[in-house]
Amino acid sequence: MQMSALVQDLKRCKLVAVVEIGDAASAVPLAHSLLEGGVHYIEITFRTEGAGDALLALKGAGTGLHYGAGTVRTKEQASRAIRAGAEFLVSPGFNEGVVAVAIDAGLPFIPGVDSTLGIEAAVGMGLDTLKFFPAEESGGIKWLKAVQGPYPELRFIPTGGISLANLKDYLAAPNVLAVGGSFLAPKQLIKEQRFGDITAACSKASGVVKELKQ
Ligand code: 3PG
Repeated sequence: MQMSALVQDLKRCKLVAVVEIGDAASAVPLAHSLLEGGVHYIEITFRTEGAGDALLALKGAGTGLHYGAGTVRTKEQASRAIRAGAEFLVSPGFNEGVVAVAIDAGLPFIPGVDSTLGIEAAVGMGLDTLKFFPAEESGGIKWLKAVQGPYPELRFIPTGGISLANLKDYLAAPNVLAVGGSFLAPKQLIKEQRFGDITAACSKASGVVKELKQ
């Protein structure tokens, strides 16, 4: 997937489920539950042993869900995620060497920033789509408004502390491309295989997206 295609699609879809999957066997039923709730993007965090296998399972199943790797903090993890078929990579912070692995492989990389220091480093590598992490803890909507003036060309995916309660405010910010969060598929619900509850959570969030589009 090219960065430009990813940006265009995220502009429409708006929601990225950030998930931690312990058992890769959950990946496909989880994908179906997200899609049923109107969520078309998943970021599988590389915090569990099963993350790579979960990506491979999604690739094999071809559910229609777009899948990326999250918490990609090292070059080794980036290479592993690329081998497992990740369509895009996401990291919590900015690490030039890790970003370079994805760029070399021709894959979109969305690094996390929470300051102008990180923004400058990312912009220096030609990036204009960034994760704002941890969003709520770092200033939330106020931070997004503040950076819009000096960096009008940038688009952000706020993640960290997003919930149904503040989703509408984040989505309404002009420099927000999409939002990410575990609230769409909480770890405990995945662990307990409560896929119906995940669909319900996603449907509520999709409802907010639809409301804003009207
Ligand atoms: C992440 O990995 O990007 C965040 O931990 C997700 O944050 P949340 O659990 O507050 O949504």
